[in-house]
Amino acid sequence: MTRPWWETIFDERYPELFGPLERDPEEEVARIVGLLSLPSGASVVDLGCGRGRHAIPLSRRGYRVTGVDLSDKMLGLARERALREGASIEWVREDMRKFVRRGAFDACLSLFTSFGFFNDEENELVIGNVAKSLKEGGTLLLDLRNAQKGLAGEEDTETTVAVPSGRLRLRVRFDRATRRARAEHELTRPDGIRISSAFDVRIYSEEELTGMLCRSGMRVTVVHGSLDGAPFTPGAERMVVIAKRL
Ligand SMILES: C[S@@+](CC[C@H](N)C(=O)[O-])C[C@H]1O[C@@H](n2cnc3c(N)ncnc32)[C@H](O)[C@@H]1O
Repeated sequence: MTRPWWETIFDERYPELFGPLERDPEEEVARIVGLLSLPSGASVVDLGCGRGRHAIPLSRRGYRVTGVDLSDKMLGLARERALREGASIEWVREDMRKFVRRGAFDACLSLFTSFGFFNDEENELVIGNVAKSLKEGGTLLLDLRNAQKGLAGEEDTETTVAVPSGRLRLRVRFDRATRRARAEHELTRPDGIRISSAFDVRIYSEEELTGMLCRSGMRVTVVHGSLDGAPFTPGAERMVVIAKRL
């Protein structure tokens, strides 16, 4: 049986294939802490934490951090780095469609498009799990692609960039019918060897997410156009949704 794509691409190739699109995580963490007004010592879960880019700086700031991810490889990288840097984080290998810890967290973070991998029913299940795992008044931050840009065709891009390990070709296509974006990344190393992976994710509109969050007992408090707190506009770089558990 073929394994679903999200179980295959998040491995040791990921940093090379996706790293060039990442922003400075230390800066992002500083922004997130500000956007959420996170009180010191708050308990935070990073859902789809990957190699701990945000979990580790958050823990360094004194937050009690749980990093959840399905990929052994990504968690392995996270564990190694946390050990090296003396960061104390609880790493949990679990599927976000199953992970629930009732009323445990002050905040839940889903960063760098770590939501929307599955079908609508399963994506909504993830939001339901988040609602259950947050304390009353707890906050969810979703950092996502901007669906309005996708619908306008602005997400359909193709670029090749020079990276330290070769040339990276990035191709994104937004399917208006399914409202899913497919991102293909192909790295050609100087010796001609190619590695590639493809990413397929449902891109929700603000209205769709508002409905989904509402059905799970949450309420959207604000939508930003980036983690910098820029206004959310049709052409905004990202859609950053902040919601509270009622
Ligand atoms: C786009 S990466 C982002 C990682 C991290 N948030 C970051 O900013 O570096 C998405 C992450 O979600 C994880 N993931 C994919 N499917 C998952 C699932 N079903 N349950 C939990 N994590 C999953 C992947 O292993 C990967 O680490």
